[in-house]
Amino acid sequence: MSGSSVAFRVQPSGPLRGELRVPGDKSISHRSVMLGALADGLTEVEGFLQGEDCLATRKAFEAMGVVCEDTSPTGMRIHGVGLHGLRAPAAALDLGNSGTSMRLMSGLLAGQAFDSTLTGDASLSRRPMRRITEPLGRMGARIESTEAGTAPLTVRGGLVLHGASFDLTVASAQVKSALLLAGLYAQGMTVVNEPGISRDHTERMLASFGVEVPVSGLRCQLAGGQRLTATAIQVPADLSSAAFPIVAALIAQGSDVLLPGVGVNPSRAGVLKILEMMGAQLSLLNVRAAGAEPIADLHVIAGPLQGVDVPSALVPLAIDEFPALLVAAAVAKGTTRITGAAELRVKESDRIAAMARGLEAVGVQVEEAEDGITVHGGGVRGGVVDSLGDHRIAMSFAALGAVAADGIEIRDVANVQTSFPGFIDAMSGLGLNIEQLP
Ligand code: S3P
Repeated sequence: MSGSSVAFRVQPSGPLRGELRVPGDKSISHRSVMLGALADGLTEVEGFLQGEDCLATRKAFEAMGVVCEDTSPTGMRIHGVGLHGLRAPAAALDLGNSGTSMRLMSGLLAGQAFDSTLTGDASLSRRPMRRITEPLGRMGARIESTEAGTAPLTVRGGLVLHGASFDLTVASAQVKSALLLAGLYAQGMTVVNEPGISRDHTERMLASFGVEVPVSGLRCQLAGGQRLTATAIQVPADLSSAAFPIVAALIAQGSDVLLPGVGVNPSRAGVLKILEMMGAQLSLLNVRAAGAEPIADLHVIAGPLQGVDVPSALVPLAIDEFPALLVAAAVAKGTTRITGAAELRVKESDRIAAMARGLEAVGVQVEEAEDGITVHGGGVRGGVVDSLGDHRIAMSFAALGAVAADGIEIRDVANVQTSFPGFIDAMSGLGLNIEQLP
């Protein structure tokens, strides 16, 4: 798939049935390359997401002298170069669509001896970067951006960083992680206090590499200068990608789907809680550990859903799943209200606007607010939707197509490759009536 002209057409589908192993977790795959690269020794990764975002991270580290070997279709061996072993890249590092790569790497690169420049595609070049450049600046980093505080970013090297204490105003794993990664290179202690829970994959994975990151409630800290020791990483299936078959199976009558080995880290599992509040029949079977992360086999059975007022405490725990949740809301009986979710406006697209326009286009009544959206559930007519080049918008409307009377055509879907390669085959394997156009 390439180009903005790629589209999906989804027709009303029968029940979805069977088992699907969704691809590896995007957040954890990025971190496996970053920490594996900085470690001493060989890190073996299983279940790596071969999507464009994580491959952009891999390419960036390769450009800084890190050898990454494929050991199986989703296996990778990373030859760590140690905390101070990265080499200056010959050119700007192109991070494509990936906000996680750009934000986390800004922190990590601020501690290097060399300068580096980070670029991205049109969407990434619009996303706010002051949330990392400002706090990193307080640690002594120098990162140049555009006047608007956006990429390209030039990260100056050869500076002495010092630890600092931060009170974040937004719960953001990307900001927290950028500060912790810079903290590895800083003198003294880096302390991050968050206003709410954000995903804790960085803290868990740093601990697997032998780094001490004491966590107490919403506060974590890291003493600079700690070295990383290579380890083995099992990447869980991505709950954010699982959200699309989960929602499709919940809404397509008669469905019964099993998704094995999905990450259910509590800092990410808000989507499951919200769907349960909506009345979803969702079971977590065989809950177990995959290294530092909890995983489970998710069993989903179709059934009626009710609208809910999403508790604001759950918003950061489900931040990437709102497009999928809004699809469930469109089919549910009654009204679903989301507030306190202004962050959705600065994701790969403005996801509040993208979902509002898309839902209206398929006959669903919505009201948009600055920090959220209200969806009035009921029947879905169908029509043509623009994903605005956002992978999660595209896949959400593909799930909704299962029950749209006239089907749904979704335009500009090439970016599905960033997080869910093989999406069409995976979903049609379960019985979704989906094809790629042209
Ligand atoms: C991510 C953190 C989240 C999430 C993004 C991935 C990460 O962003 O939306 O898709 O891997 O750290 P924020 O931390 O900015 O909320």
